[in-house]
Amino acid sequence: MLTKYKETAAYISRRIHGETPETAIILGSGLGLLADKIEQPIVIPYTEIPHFMHSTAMGHRGNLIFGTLGGKKVLAMQGRFHYYEGYGMQEVTYPVRVMYFLGVRNLFVSNAAGGVNFNYRIGDLMIIRDHINLLPNPLIGKNIDEIGLRFPDMTRPYDLPLIAAAEAIAAAAGIRLQKGVYLAGSGPSYETPAEYAFFRMIGADAVGMSTIPEVIVARHAGMRVFGMSVITNEACEFPPDYVNSGDDVIKAAAAATETMSFLFTKIIEQIAPSPVHCA
Ligand code: HPA
Repeated sequence: MLTKYKETAAYISRRIHGETPETAIILGSGLGLLADKIEQPIVIPYTEIPHFMHSTAMGHRGNLIFGTLGGKKVLAMQGRFHYYEGYGMQEVTYPVRVMYFLGVRNLFVSNAAGGVNFNYRIGDLMIIRDHINLLPNPLIGKNIDEIGLRFPDMTRPYDLPLIAAAEAIAAAAGIRLQKGVYLAGSGPSYETPAEYAFFRMIGADAVGMSTIPEVIVARHAGMRVFGMSVITNEACEFPPDYVNSGDDVIKAAAAATETMSFLFTKIIEQIAPSPVHCA
């Protein structure tokens, strides 16, 4: 696997003229428009990248975009890979390992999620402060000591200074932010009312089908992680004619992209460049 990660990283590095993107962004369902804010973009379709998976999920365009955002070099994934697409956890998290070998040290993750917290409304943005993983752990298997520890710490998966920066930026701009626990299940079926109630009971505020695998692999590699969910459906009391639909989820996520893009850009602007690089 190591050789493959390095081969993919070397290809991308050539395409981006040997630059080091210190920050990477994974854009979830319907949130791909953030990539349009990236200046001087170099767009690399996943289909051109050696060993890369292809996006099959709706609302995921399948491009890697390198450029400048908030004055920093960033690498954005316009679309991710999910367990429900039939990819294994190694494949779902493959891009994060490649990012590590490209020199990425900060990872911003985003997703569309159902709000199981009774106070959440469609269109709310939630800072992910912690998570509950109900997907297989992507680190199962032989540990790659070159990247990280066999038993990586998960006491602070989401970077506290980045959370504080997000909250200060949102407060100054009058943006309403929620902060809560994201739970990932496998999907692709949405949850039953009883499952939503169960997730609320065990401490989740929002539920989705992604993100946590990438976060675990990023933390294993020592990256700083910032996560944000867009609440696309209220997962609590259902009116008699209510159904969950992928189209509505994508529409609701797209409507929140502007605000999320603003927050991500401002936070990235404030990140101090890291003094050390490992290759
Ligand atoms: N459940 C799981 N994943 C989701 C949901 C949901 O209600 N909404 C958006 N992604």
